[in-house]
Amino acid sequence: MSLTKVPQRRWASALLSGKYRPALSTHAPIAESPTDGSRRKGNISASRQPHLMRCASTSYRPHPKPVNTRPFSVSVASRSRNNTATPDLTMENKLQSVTFRERLAAAYPWTTAPLIVGAPMRVMSGPDLAVAVSRAGGFGFIGPGLKPESTAADLETTKGLLASSGIPQHGAVLPVGVGFQIWNGNLDVSASAVSQYRPAAAWLFAPRNGQTDVDVWTKRLREASPETKIWLQIGTLQEALDAARSASPPDVLVVQGAEAGGHGRTSDGIGFITLLPEIADATCESGIPLIAAGGVADGRGVVAALGVGAAGVAMGTRFLASQEARIKKGYQDEVVRATDGGASTLRTHLYNHLRGTFGWPEQFSPRTIINRSWVEKQAGTAFEDIKKLHDDAVSKGDGAWGPDGWTATYAGANVGLIRGVAGAGEIVEGTRNEAVKIIQTLSGL
Ligand SMILES: Cc1cc2nc3c(=O)[nH]c(=O)nc-3n(C[C@H](O)[C@H](O)[C@H](O)COP(=O)(O)O)c2cc1C
Repeated sequence: MSLTKVPQRRWASALLSGKYRPALSTHAPIAESPTDGSRRKGNISASRQPHLMRCASTSYRPHPKPVNTRPFSVSVASRSRNNTATPDLTMENKLQSVTFRERLAAAYPWTTAPLIVGAPMRVMSGPDLAVAVSRAGGFGFIGPGLKPESTAADLETTKGLLASSGIPQHGAVLPVGVGFQIWNGNLDVSASAVSQYRPAAAWLFAPRNGQTDVDVWTKRLREASPETKIWLQIGTLQEALDAARSASPPDVLVVQGAEAGGHGRTSDGIGFITLLPEIADATCESGIPLIAAGGVADGRGVVAALGVGAAGVAMGTRFLASQEARIKKGYQDEVVRATDGGASTLRTHLYNHLRGTFGWPEQFSPRTIINRSWVEKQAGTAFEDIKKLHDDAVSKGDGAWGPDGWTATYAGANVGLIRGVAGAGEIVEGTRNEAVKIIQTLSGL
């Protein structure tokens, strides 16, 4: 047996072990740092650097304190950058998914491995979708609504759906999460909704002022509902490091790759296949589980994500083509029709502006399927003229979407992998089963 097969089989069997095993729960993802200064530069071996062994040690123990108070000092980033030394890159440490899924299991015991998350898509991810995803052993998130007050209304509906869903209650939390956009969110209203309904997680995204704004939201939401875990979606190494070094680090980091639908990094995004392992190496001492987002639409994407160190995946665009999505038929038809996302989608603020949405922080812009508005803009047509045509098309309903449509069709570069509408539960189970089959097949290599 070759040496590489041992960890590979352990990984496969850990992933295939079925239901997440309830384990330890914590708000304190940052593991204790060594005090001997040994993390600084130089050639590092695991035996001289025992803390590195904790990065993804299978015997993870949570830090007893509620939050990290010690800055990340070093190193991790500079080591990665200058390559003078590397973290302990044993197979176990590279595959954080094996260890960190136990931590997710503790907080979300209704979920099944490998973890599939329904991302919080503004308006599109409503209570029906979130509950269907969680009922199938995934983790469903409700997206931000049209108004800040919409979240509480959606959570009230969710509570009713959950009462008849068959998902066992786990303590005081609702087995769904809720997403907030920080830059234009209302923290008072959001904290009140979280306090009243206690979702299992709050997913934060798009701060105008980086981690400073995230910290304010994190602290307030934890005060409002200590049981609600904080998930933070980021798209760069720097954002991940800022979060891990923060005095209020998130419980989970969602690493959003450039293929993602909806808003993502405007110009410094890259695919998670590269971004996630670099973040995993740079933040492994933090003990924060990583979820991969952006481009995953089936079991193949899940295995890719797990292979680079994710503890699970978040899918958005795939769930736009679900029966439970809160989406217009013309929009959904276009997600199913479009192929070749590299050519048929792009990031632009044009459609935000056509819909009257201004003010997004410049570091974020949305990925959309291209249609007539973009073509006209490229041809030099004035914005006001495109706007008239856009508004006219929108007033006519489903014709607003499609190659001859005019309005926003936010979706990811994975549209070509989405060939039909299905129930959200079916999508979760099908994706998970496909991933498991691939892992079984690969483990025999
Ligand atoms: C239509 C749409 C709306 C989205 N809205 C939000 C949102 O309100 N908040 C958020 O954090 N992410 C939002 N996202 C991004 C998702 O969180 C996630 O990063 C993305 O869907 C993952 O990539 P995928 O679409 O390729 O699966 C949205 C994505 C889509 C497609």
